[in-house]
Amino acid sequence: MITGTSTAQAIAAAVSQRLGEPLVDLDADGTAEAAENVTVGADERVVVIGSTTSSRSHLELLELQERALERDPAEIVTVIPYLGYARQDKLFEPGQAISARAVARAIAASTDRVYSVNPHNISVLDYFGIPAEPVDAAPQLAKPLPDDLVEPVFLGPDEDAEWLARSVRNTYGVGLVENFEKVRHSATEVELSADEKDFSGRDVVLVDDMIATGGTMSEAVNLLARQDTRRVFVTCIHPLLVENALSKLHRAGVQSLYATDTIDRSISQVSAAPPIADVLQQ
Ligand code: R5P
Repeated sequence: MITGTSTAQAIAAAVSQRLGEPLVDLDADGTAEAAENVTVGADERVVVIGSTTSSRSHLELLELQERALERDPAEIVTVIPYLGYARQDKLFEPGQAISARAVARAIAASTDRVYSVNPHNISVLDYFGIPAEPVDAAPQLAKPLPDDLVEPVFLGPDEDAEWLARSVRNTYGVGLVENFEKVRHSATEVELSADEKDFSGRDVVLVDDMIATGGTMSEAVNLLARQDTRRVFVTCIHPLLVENALSKLHRAGVQSLYATDTIDRSISQVSAAPPIADVLQQ
């Protein structure tokens, strides 16, 4: 059976539909009666799905795992479409906490295994200390692209995003794979350089793991605007979109913008449910 937190309702429903497993509500808030009626067989698996976009949603995931654990299932599998705090995966300054390790340890306490969709850095999965695997939703980003892209280039705004761009290109079928160079000056300020790469006359598909403040993608679009490119498609796995990210992107001239539903936002146009269902079926 499948159960999801409030941050993963659509994706939990889609996974349940694809697997043909019931979608149940174990949440006691206002639905105590419904939750009490859910019984789990001793040989059944419970899949708990939750994106940890905030401290509150992290706690909500832990509470849902706890409710699953109380029912003593054969196995609890936790799926984290978006793993928050993942960028704080090491000590950047003395005295800081490794937040990614702290949240991983807490999540690992009440589950047998974990799947996380495109975590910012795959090494973060080691912090769980139990079987933890990534799920790649990047191929889904090829789906909304038109069939008639002209000399397409699949472009990562930095070196780390190049493999994502390659994954989208491989699903689309044709195109060049490239990346810009990025230097981050602060949480909101980044500087990109094209390093003499010229994409004139081409359609460009920008691919990143996440859009947070929108600074990286806005810079990439600004850089492309100085070249005589054709259409620019801005895509990412996780549309965190903090503060004024959307208006920043629109001010930069972005016309085509979409992401997956690992985080439920207005631009969550494609679903990460198919690759999640695939790993749960293995
Ligand atoms: C950074 O390494 C990530 O891959 C993204 O490029 C970054 O998190 C995007 O953040 P923002 O939208 O704030 O520039």
